[in-house]
Amino acid sequence: MRNIKPTTILAIETSCDETAFSILQNGKTLSHQVHTQISVHAEFGGVFPALAKREHDKNFTPVLAATLHEAFGIAIPSADASTNHNLDEEMINSIRAFLTREDGLAADLIAYFQNMPHEDFIKIKSSLSGIAVTYGPGLEPALWVGISGAKALATLFTLPLYPINHMEGHIASVLASAHPSTVTTGPQDALVASGQEGIPEAIGGSPLIDFPALALLISGGHTELIAINSWHAYAKIGQTVDDAVGEAYDKVARLMGLQYPGGPQISKLAEKWRSEHASAGLAQTEQDKSAAQLFSLPRPMIHTKDYNFSFSGLKTAALYAVRDKLADPAQNNEPLRDKQKEALAAEFEQAVTDTLLHKTKRAIEEYGAKTLIIGGGVIANSFIRKNFTTACAQLGIALFIPEKDLSTDNATMIGLVSYFQIRDGKPGLVPGTPEFDNLRADGNLSL
Ligand code: KG4
Ligand code: ZN
Repeated sequence: MRNIKPTTILAIETSCDETAFSILQNGKTLSHQVHTQISVHAEFGGVFPALAKREHDKNFTPVLAATLHEAFGIAIPSADASTNHNLDEEMINSIRAFLTREDGLAADLIAYFQNMPHEDFIKIKSSLSGIAVTYGPGLEPALWVGISGAKALATLFTLPLYPINHMEGHIASVLASAHPSTVTTGPQDALVASGQEGIPEAIGGSPLIDFPALALLISGGHTELIAINSWHAYAKIGQTVDDAVGEAYDKVARLMGLQYPGGPQISKLAEKWRSEHASAGLAQTEQDKSAAQLFSLPRPMIHTKDYNFSFSGLKTAALYAVRDKLADPAQNNEPLRDKQKEALAAEFEQAVTDTLLHKTKRAIEEYGAKTLIIGGGVIANSFIRKNFTTACAQLGIALFIPEKDLSTDNATMIGLVSYFQIRDGKPGLVPGTPEFDNLRADGNLSL
């Protein structure tokens, strides 16, 4: 019987502030590693591209080593291990040539491979069948670290390179699992992963995603609505004209004196407000009214006929609402009280949710979508999750949401897209060819 080699992809993601590697075999996760830089950026209140790049340089090799360890049991070589001469001079020069702008990364990678037992080096080479890397959109200095590192690895192991659009990764994230070996990619798993039990259209259904589908991508950098007719056939039908929804969360959090990233903290305050008002026996509309009475915020662009969003006006409205509150003689020159912060958070979250829901529902109707996919860091928000779950149940369409570890940036989603591409016959870039050499970071890459 012919032995068919499985498709085993090493995937790399460095588009923003996560250095992430994963290994997938035939679409199933063997390893999932994410190193987040959040604590490094927190003191500056946002992500600085040059700082992000430096952190990716530093973390690239340790995260790669952890990934190869998790997937194939490759021991992490100690710094003083005897040199095994896995790399000849030509290989060393080629690693250095790809990584001229990555301080220290070339040296780290060379030391890592040189110190590794030869059997391990051969095991990596014989196990992998391709490398996938995010090439946009994102912060270009950060993207370049992943791309240059991926080129060095693809050349070293003579593997095809698959450049992947980060946003397609967020779409595919709903079909993946961050947990190696326990869950395979498949219909049941996607449901378990998304916590969407009870959606009959999708249970055991094949094909997994019923098309046409609509994707709502909500993160710190993006707010987009994408119509999907089949895998790889995307049409962007709407996007933010200014700030992304996560960015608005972070900016409003900042004006309330909360630390970056503010999304999860606003969400907690809003939750507190809602739970206290619900326990006081107020109906949903009543609680909204009372939060809105304290801080009334607009629902920007909700009545425009297009599918675009705007969140910068909402942030400015929050700023003015706080300013007015502080100028109120009743405030007595005191900063916002805890209850006021909770009310502002609740009203802000309600305004965001109303806006996202309104436009998405309209797009679902116009495009006849049978499935809604939501990806990106903001879908970690439980209020937004709950509201979309209810709305999709009412509309009778399937909802796919990634498991929490896959809503923020990761490489598993990038590897899964490359797996779909390979399955559908798309060739990778071959080391040494002009197409391979010309692969560049594209910060504004669009679907
Ligand atoms: O997708 P992501 O990890 O990175 C980008 O590509 O931007 O998204 C990060 C964004 C941040 O703005 C963060 O504040 C927001 O997602 N976020 C949340 C929540 N958790 C993360 N926003 C609202 N509620 C949350 N629970
Ligand atoms: Zn992202």
